Amino acid sequence: MGEHFAAKVDDIQPGQGIVVQIHERSVGLFRVGEEFYAIRNVCPHQGGPLGEGSLFPLLRAQVVETGKVKEFNDYEHMVLCCPWHGWEFDLKTGECIADRHQCARVYKTRVEGDQVIIID
Ligand code: FES
Repeated sequence: MGEHFAAKVDDIQPGQGIVVQIHERSVGLFRVGEEFYAIRNVCPHQGGPLGEGSLFPLLRAQVVETGKVKEFNDYEHMVLCCPWHGWEFDLKTGECIADRHQCARVYKTRVEGDQVIIID
């Protein structure tokens, strides 16, 4: 338990991530706008390097007045895709999109000055 320096804010460009080592743990650290999200770099499927995955917005659909279905990208809910077999995880909660019982460990973060801190 504690707070750990993870990276400088400018080390990560918006929409990107890096893998950092916090003691014995490997953690993916992602930036969405000015927010930072940390997720354990171990996929719950078969242990793939989840922190090396790709980010994209959740694709949602809604029925509009005409009765047609409109799809849109939900940038409030970013999805992290594991590079090994493509399982997708909610970046904020770590929940697998296809099976909410599968969950990757996530950590809180905060920014202090130009530093990103991971809290566990
Ligand atoms: S190890 Fe991540 S999807 Fe299989």
